[in-house]
Amino acid sequence: MLSIPKHSLKILVIGGGGREHALVWKLAQSPLVEKVFCAPGNGGTATENKSENVDIKIDEFAKLSQFCLDQKIDLTVVGPDNALAAGIVDYFKEKSLRIFGPSKAAARLEWSKSYAKQFMAKYNLPTAKFLTCNSYNDALRIAKANAWAQVIKVDGLALGKGVYVCNNKDSVENSLKEIFEENKFGHAAETVLFEEKLNGEEMSLFLLCDGKDILPLAPSQDFKRRFDDDCGPNTGGMGAISPPANYDKFKDIFFESIFKPLQTALRSEAINYQGLLYTGVLLHQDQASGQIQPKILEFNARFGDPETQAVLLRLKSDLLPALWACTEGKLAEINLEWSEEKSCCVIAVNSDYPEKSSNDKTITIPSQSPEKIIVFHAGTKLKDKNLVTAGGRVLAVVALDAHLEQAAKKTYDYLANLNFESMDYRKDIGRLKSKIH
Ligand code: AMP
Ligand code: GLY
Repeated sequence: MLSIPKHSLKILVIGGGGREHALVWKLAQSPLVEKVFCAPGNGGTATENKSENVDIKIDEFAKLSQFCLDQKIDLTVVGPDNALAAGIVDYFKEKSLRIFGPSKAAARLEWSKSYAKQFMAKYNLPTAKFLTCNSYNDALRIAKANAWAQVIKVDGLALGKGVYVCNNKDSVENSLKEIFEENKFGHAAETVLFEEKLNGEEMSLFLLCDGKDILPLAPSQDFKRRFDDDCGPNTGGMGAISPPANYDKFKDIFFESIFKPLQTALRSEAINYQGLLYTGVLLHQDQASGQIQPKILEFNARFGDPETQAVLLRLKSDLLPALWACTEGKLAEINLEWSEEKSCCVIAVNSDYPEKSSNDKTITIPSQSPEKIIVFHAGTKLKDKNLVTAGGRVLAVVALDAHLEQAAKKTYDYLANLNFESMDYRKDIGRLKSKIH
């Protein structure tokens, strides 16, 4: 049985984006919870029911842990990857504080792309063909000898910017120059990974892990490119849907070729992975045979953003016992119930995003939102009690409906009522045709 108290729990969520607002919103609904603190939070978590912001940064581990001791926090939930990679979970556990998230060593599945690939190879998890190297000369040699090596990934956390998907030899060479000669990633450029370029549709599979068992959450899909029709630069994510239109068709394949071997791999590797494992999968369609096979592109050691906003809106069960169970190795006791309805999440950004972010612009949001529409905040803050912009991705509007097209329509109709200076958003989330035929 879970050792969870029956009432009056205090929770701390670490982070300040849309993902953290969604986590705060969902955890605050738990009948077991009295209060959810969010450090540092945003304008949304400042005003959410039962929630309060705490003015501590995500890398101030000593202050964060002291806050938990002073306030008798029952559970801390970590949002951002950099806190995990810097060892916040190890730090909290040394102080006997309960925390949801993998240790620094386990989070290596995210912060070292080369370790993640070795892990996949060792346990026969399906992934793109790859080679690693440590020097410019080696990299040039590999690129010349292997026409398939068109995707280049810089090892280490590069804040989403360390991946080059190239189209030809020249762009491969230019990317290598940027990495090794212009030293764009500093020390992160010591190891570089080449991958075969895959084609198809990406999906985000979130797995709760307790060190022994895994429990998949509802699948989702995010849209990373800045502009409609998946054009423009990669961003932190411009929208998300749950479930992806094609997921059900391939459900059994996902189970057999990803979930089952991944559970075995995690057990065998003995890294005691407790937390959320975000498995980024590409449903690869072989151009010659037309055959479709899911391949793992990457792992993240945390919830995705903005997928979390789309996924949590569909979760009918209490999230708190599920996160708690991960910290005790008792996921087997958890059953999660999901809405059959589909969700569509669209991110409102400032028009210069991702180059620039927006600051101090007044945000107007209607005080009441219709049923089954939620506005999660990302780059917002309260300034003299007024809501203003404080980032590139400002708001995430999510709607739920029996049909994805209707969920998208509701989201877009509602977005028309929001406003801040130079607000922009993609118009095709939930409306794009599948890339799989
Ligand atoms: P990653 O950080 O590894 O997920 O890569 C960022 C993005 O680059 C992914 O979401 C994909 O859109 C793209 N990408 C990564 N690896 C590959 C690959 N092997 N083939 C094609 N696209 C890829
Ligand atoms: N939406 C992509 C991520 O969270 O990494």
